[in-house]
Amino acid sequence: MTRTVYVNGEYLPEHEAKVSIFDRAFLMADGVYEVTSVLDGKLIDFAGHAKRLERSLSELDMPSPCTMDELLEIHRKLVELNGIEEGLVYLQVTRGAPGDRDFAWPDPETCAPGIVLFTQNKPGLANSPAAQKGMKIISIEDVRWGRRDIKTVQLLYPSMGKMMAKKAGVDDAWMVQDGFVTEGTSNNAYFIKGNTIVTRALSNDILHGITRAAVLRFAAEAQMQIEERNFTIEEAQAADEAFITSASAFVMPVVEIDGQAIGSGTPGPLALRLREIYLDESRKAAV
Ligand code: PDD
Repeated sequence: MTRTVYVNGEYLPEHEAKVSIFDRAFLMADGVYEVTSVLDGKLIDFAGHAKRLERSLSELDMPSPCTMDELLEIHRKLVELNGIEEGLVYLQVTRGAPGDRDFAWPDPETCAPGIVLFTQNKPGLANSPAAQKGMKIISIEDVRWGRRDIKTVQLLYPSMGKMMAKKAGVDDAWMVQDGFVTEGTSNNAYFIKGNTIVTRALSNDILHGITRAAVLRFAAEAQMQIEERNFTIEEAQAADEAFITSASAFVMPVVEIDGQAIGSGTPGPLALRLREIYLDESRKAAV
């Protein structure tokens, strides 16, 4: 089945979808994005993703191409047209294509924002064997720009980080700035000691994960303690458990950091429990 994608107001077969070479996301990484997961053919945490998109747009003074209600309809239609039961919807909004290259932003009155959405079919996303195995990670320096709270398409360093991890024979990397962990290349980072979850506090240094917000809420409801503060790789290595969260991985246990096994070196019971709660609760609230 040919994938149907959405480009600037049209639903098209993927090979017919085209964007301008002058699109500022292509020339300047002047675009923002969201990734929303789909379970049972429904969108997980859509309201959170829509809200963060509005914030990213407003922080960059970028006009919105449509209302959030229209965006929900486009998401739903693409999921339906492509028969997605489990998978992802990728959405990108750009400042548009002014018809030439210029550092200064174009006038929003004459240059419409660009919008692209496509689905990724991922059967077995929720029942992933990776969750039973856990992830191994390395630490790398965080050399990204200072506004990581805005979800821009400027993803070269996270891609380099994934390649550094791959070269080291592991699954991912956690980034470290001034001695403290910021986040994973495409996820938020946590460790558990006793009954306490530790994760970096929200600031411009990290993406304000939508899965993070939900998981911390469920953890508090399950009587776990939460400390939002800076932590080092050494502290995480000495923890009982570690894990990451993201829209595409949900809650995923981390079993090794820089060659050091975490706890027993197998996925921790609390991380697996949080994964189960997150999946159950978000399925119930899915739209
Ligand atoms: N990445 N931190 C970074 C740097 C991320 O890129 C992501 C998500 C997260 C987790 O945010 P959320 O829980 O809202 O997905 C944290 C997406 C999945 C991606 O780029 O594919």
